Amino acid sequence: MTLSTFRSCFIVLATISCISLNVTAGEMPRLVSKDGRHELLVDGNPFFILGAQMNNSSDWPAFLPQVWAAIDDIHANTLEAPVYWQQVERHEGKFNFSDLDTLISQARKHNVRLVLLWFGSWKNGSMNYAPDWVKLDTACFPREWDAKDQPQTILSVFSKATLDADRRAFVALMQHLKETDGTRHTVIMVQVENETGTWGFTRDHSPAAESAFRGQVPPDLLQAMHKEPGTWDQVFGSDADETFSAYTIARFVDQVASAGKAVYNLPMYANASLRDPEDPNARPGATYQSGGPSYNMIDVWKVAAKSLDILCPDIYLHGASSYMKTLQLYDRPDNALFVPETTNFPAYSRFLFAVIGMGGIGFSPFGIDYTSYTNYPLGADRISKDALFPLSEEYQLLCPMDEEIARLSYEGKVKTAVEYADTSVHTATLNFGKWVATVSYGLPQFGYGDNPPGNPSHDGCALVAEIGPNEFLVTGIDSRVRFSLSAAESGQSMQFLRVEQGEYVKDKWKFLRHWNGDQTDWGLNFKHDPAVLHVKLETF
Ligand code: DGJ
Repeated sequence: MTLSTFRSCFIVLATISCISLNVTAGEMPRLVSKDGRHELLVDGNPFFILGAQMNNSSDWPAFLPQVWAAIDDIHANTLEAPVYWQQVERHEGKFNFSDLDTLISQARKHNVRLVLLWFGSWKNGSMNYAPDWVKLDTACFPREWDAKDQPQTILSVFSKATLDADRRAFVALMQHLKETDGTRHTVIMVQVENETGTWGFTRDHSPAAESAFRGQVPPDLLQAMHKEPGTWDQVFGSDADETFSAYTIARFVDQVASAGKAVYNLPMYANASLRDPEDPNARPGATYQSGGPSYNMIDVWKVAAKSLDILCPDIYLHGASSYMKTLQLYDRPDNALFVPETTNFPAYSRFLFAVIGMGGIGFSPFGIDYTSYTNYPLGADRISKDALFPLSEEYQLLCPMDEEIARLSYEGKVKTAVEYADTSVHTATLNFGKWVATVSYGLPQFGYGDNPPGNPSHDGCALVAEIGPNEFLVTGIDSRVRFSLSAAESGQSMQFLRVEQGEYVKDKWKFLRHWNGDQTDWGLNFKHDPAVLHVKLETF
């Protein structure tokens, strides 16, 4: 079999084996945690979200064909799709989820799971997805006021009527999911609101908000932050406005989420417009939304929104260093790492490997459909099959073994390497105790290379997982992996016992051939053919 024939066989098998959506009821999707690590279980099985989020206005039946074409091209196992409050409750108290039913039934046909995004009171710091009857009644549904006391296109969280209305609609959504998807679990997770917080000012200044701001900081927040009682200004000083905003918005989101969970208990999360961890001039409301779960407000959100399972970063930051720092800030013993949105620039798809290596539960670039909208310069200026190739080759590689990867990652057995553009170092070292895997970028497949130059497109990545004593699963793209013994093993030599190339079919290993000779003499070289290896090492 030639490599190209092998590749096309692999593609067919990968597509078939990606997900099997059982018709029988499994256990509810849920997150589990152990020793600071996290795992998403879907129908009781480990699941890593190889996701994609459609553009904001794409979740309408007439446009779904352009969404599915892209989702099928990239081999995603999960689609993130908005549910618009304005659309499902056009008339107050009357709900219509027929378009959602269409989405769910098409997702099943495409063997793809769904993460639904509740575009309710909040969408990117505005209320644009609220129904007309909410937008038109500012007395019942009051607005936030900015620092100059001007009402904004933002619903104030200090309104019981707004909370009641949003919560009732969200509960109706969850009830509908329970009735129509409660045994299938096509929908595996829900995002509650979208990028809460304000741009242009730091907190709500409406009369109700002012009165709350003059009051005492709630005891649960004081206790968690180890602070003495006082007003917001007294307790938090220059951070008072942002902390007040974060706490009060998080309380609102929490009440919406907990009511939804009470009827149908899916994992739920909130997403953050990011504060750049490397920006010394970062200012809430100016360089990022004030009041959302930005990294500096995670502790506040954890206190105020206990019913949320995860707080997540929407990563559009440029540069490997800011990107990696952000991943580290959201990867916490009390917070699973999930990237529900990230730039669709082709070069950034390799950060999927970083998320896997850190034990994350999913990764999902934004704006993946063929409706011809692009959010350039946040992402690519063209979304086409070619532009999506880097993401698609990664998903094609990993999709058949997503369960295996999720399981190994939860056990702490997976290490990954990602090539950085902004460095002169083109190697990385992955330590597995007795064994060391050295990853290098930009070398030809044949011959030694002491000074790897890096790849021109900086697209290199590699994944090494310990699957048994002296045994590793190894894969990658545009990279070379060499094994050696660690310094502690001096006096011993190593050899390959065998290097098997195979594939995962329904997460079970299927042997295809041995790599030997040129294919192993210079290290294990990965290009753009989706090769997965099981490597057995020995000492002598
Ligand atoms: C982040 C938001 O959450 C998305 O819905 C979208 O508006 C992007 N920003 C920009 O395309």
